[in-house]
Amino acid sequence: MIPKSFIQDLLNRLDIVDVIERYVPLKKAGANYSACCPFHNEKSPSFTVSQSKQFYHCFGCGAHGTAIGFVMEHTGLGFVDAVEELARGIGVEVPREQTTPGQVQHKVAPDLYDVMRAATRYYREQLKQSPRAIDYLKRRGLSGEVAARFGIGYAPDAWQNLASIVPSYQDASLVETGMVIEGEGGKRYDRFRDRIMFPIVNARGQVIGFGGRVLDKGEPKYLNSPETTLFEKGHELYGLFQAQKAIRASQMVVVVEGYMDVVALAQHGVEYAVATLGTATTPFHVQKLLRLAEQVVFCFDGDAAGQKAAWRALENSLPHLVDGKRIGFLFLPKEHDPDSYVREHGTEAFEELLHDSLPLSGYLLRELCAQVDLRTQEGRSNLLKSAQPLLLAISAPTMALLLRKEVAALAGITQAELEALYAIKPIAAPQRKAPAKAARRAPSNVRALLRCLLVKPELARSLPADFAADGADAAAIMALAEWLAGQEGEVSTAGMIQHFQGTAHEAALAAAQADILQWGEEFDVAAEVEGVLTRLREEERRRQWQELELKFQQTGLKGLEQQERTLYLQLLQERLAGMK
Ligand code: UTP
Ligand code: MN
Repeated sequence: MIPKSFIQDLLNRLDIVDVIERYVPLKKAGANYSACCPFHNEKSPSFTVSQSKQFYHCFGCGAHGTAIGFVMEHTGLGFVDAVEELARGIGVEVPREQTTPGQVQHKVAPDLYDVMRAATRYYREQLKQSPRAIDYLKRRGLSGEVAARFGIGYAPDAWQNLASIVPSYQDASLVETGMVIEGEGGKRYDRFRDRIMFPIVNARGQVIGFGGRVLDKGEPKYLNSPETTLFEKGHELYGLFQAQKAIRASQMVVVVEGYMDVVALAQHGVEYAVATLGTATTPFHVQKLLRLAEQVVFCFDGDAAGQKAAWRALENSLPHLVDGKRIGFLFLPKEHDPDSYVREHGTEAFEELLHDSLPLSGYLLRELCAQVDLRTQEGRSNLLKSAQPLLLAISAPTMALLLRKEVAALAGITQAELEALYAIKPIAAPQRKAPAKAARRAPSNVRALLRCLLVKPELARSLPADFAADGADAAAIMALAEWLAGQEGEVSTAGMIQHFQGTAHEAALAAAQADILQWGEEFDVAAEVEGVLTRLREEERRRQWQELELKFQQTGLKGLEQQERTLYLQLLQERLAGMK
């Protein structure tokens, strides 16, 4: 567990503008910075970053958060990884609290990355000195530029190449990174020898593994790094780091099978391709890619293995479909893979194929129908059976509805019958929403108070202990005050936003964030809070007076309880004094 106080401390030390600039170029716009939003497609910039308050907010799509939230959203990293990444960026070590058994400790020794970086540099150096390796890459149509973009190198034909990159070949890091193998009797040797080296890079641009290809014939054709603390195959995609910009620009990503496919496509200007790393497409991959682009096209080889890989990709996609985003499947002619296809037919022909790729729904129905004879009752019954787990896996409402209708129609039954058969909750036609009641506006004083406290959270310490009001803003204020009471150090706007991320108060805070972005720096927040509190106090007094006055008129002074009587007399005095 990362201590909570460290998160607050980290947010205080970071500059969100630096963090975001690593991914998205920002322009100064008044007191804030702005850009076209990286989280939705837009032509004019509504993505706004406040440097003084250390948060971002998109007026177009509502995306909002702190530097931590941004890195998570943008790179697909989890919370812990995002915190580690940000801490590393400013040279700070993340402290750990004792974890209870069962919780996984996530530990990455930074020196392992150094080993990988040194190995990459070494292999690239060696490539320059190997005419045979250079010649191989040239024959495969790669330019020096593309080879450099992917950091491609060459591991010479020797047993202990990497001895030259570390002080001692006995260092544990060489085995921990999988670069060196320790055999029987502790004899060590390089995993990669006489191979073209493809560095595998994570979302942050760090090398975490390698794929190595033989130059001539030889087994295995590709040798890959094993899974290590740095490298988890089901989470990584080859080429994603290099492709990020193109994916965002085109809102499209192609998933291919091989290292060479990614590199060859980039060579031909198709820069938005990534490859799975000798594993099936995992649900994690699908989620990550659907976050980055509107459209994901799986393009696997034309052979039987490619067909199988495509179906696995479909199965793992179903739970993560998002209505409005498109998943396509492209099946190349049998003899081709994307590398050979683009080299033979060119970029335009390949992009045309992508454009005409089979939509996921079409592929799913085609495969289901291919297995059965729909002219027979048995065939239709088998269709319903094989479609069941697939349809049940889909959670995107529109997609689920359309596919249920189609499968039902193919089987000659109604959607309702299909739903009854599968015993699943029917998807009804969307109900028209009742005309919204005029939303009850949060009283403007409370609203203003929340905005002020967001700018200067520590002012919440001056709230009266009995502060109370109705509505979401007031609830957020009370939660803030309570949280603050338990905090020792300084609390920032970003720290507060981060703390309430994912809680019931997130929406109220997000609305407040959008408003305070427009506030000038010279605005005296403390004075405003004092004013608001005075007004709230007066309001409360007025309310109490009216209540007591009514009771007094009905029952006289003796009808009031002791406390009420004291208050009534006090208020009466105040009012009389005010009249003078
Ligand atoms: P392919 O054999 O289709 O590779 O395997 P390729 O990219 O077309 O290779 P070239 O064009 O002959 O160079 C696809 C992917 O499967 C994994 C690798 O990730 C490879 O890129 N693979 C393949 C291995 O891990 N080991 C192997 O021996 C073969
Ligand atoms: Mn190939």
